[in-house]
Amino acid sequence: MDFLNPSRLYFSNSIVILRPINEDDIQTLFNWRTDPIINKYLTSPAPKNMQDQRQWFWKYQHDTDSLFFMIRSRALDNIKIGYCLFSKIDGSKGCAEFGIVIGNKDYLHQGFGHKLMPTCMKIAYQYLGIHTLYSNVHSQNLACLTVVQNFIGSEPIIGPHPYRKDNEVLLRLDLSDFEAFEEKILLKNEKWRNILFIEQAEM
Ligand SMILES: CC(C)(COP(=O)(O)OP(=O)(O)OC[C@H]1O[C@@H](n2cnc3c(N)ncnc32)[C@H](O)[C@@H]1OP(=O)(O)O)[C@@H](O)C(=O)NCCC(=O)NCCS
Repeated sequence: MDFLNPSRLYFSNSIVILRPINEDDIQTLFNWRTDPIINKYLTSPAPKNMQDQRQWFWKYQHDTDSLFFMIRSRALDNIKIGYCLFSKIDGSKGCAEFGIVIGNKDYLHQGFGHKLMPTCMKIAYQYLGIHTLYSNVHSQNLACLTVVQNFIGSEPIIGPHPYRKDNEVLLRLDLSDFEAFEEKILLKNEKWRNILFIEQAEM
């Protein structure tokens, strides 16, 4: 991600503010990643302890192909509600793996994922130079499948693929698919205009 200016990775729309994760988030990330309700369908192993989490963060800071954003709710006094991640970013091919975690249990299954998936995808397509997003979703993770596959329209990929994780449904969404989704959803409900209007702030 060398081509991205870190001071420009701050985004907002009508509902949330996103910024790159930092050291102050380590404890929150640890709490979320070790919570069995949150990590039920996440295949990457949870950190064993805080030292593990700190090591993960150190590695992440030196990693050039992933980007994690903390998500704060504007309506809820800017509290942290979750994070989204882009990993295995391939700048030359313009693709990345994408995931989202509503880590704050109080806000699970209240429609945040439904609005945040398109928000984060739009950030990737509009600002991060990504043209194709892949998501590995556990086959039992119905909330995630409903949003990514049924609502947004990501296509399942069959067969071996570099982004595939064992026993998960691999979904792909190209920029052109996202544009078609955006057009459709804007015609259906005006509320999406503010959600899909992403502003970039300089910090
Ligand atoms: C998966 C996850 C991101 C979904 O986000 P969420 O905020 O909990 O879920 P939502 O409330 O937005 O959506 C859940 C359901 O309501 C539906 N929904 C919500 N708001 C809606 C609306 N306004 N209109 C229509 N449908 C709506 C969704 O389509 C979905 O349908 P379902 O009942 O068939 O499951 C979240 O549960 C999570 O982070 N879980 C833990 C970590 C995880 O598993 N991450 C996914 C990794 S791929």
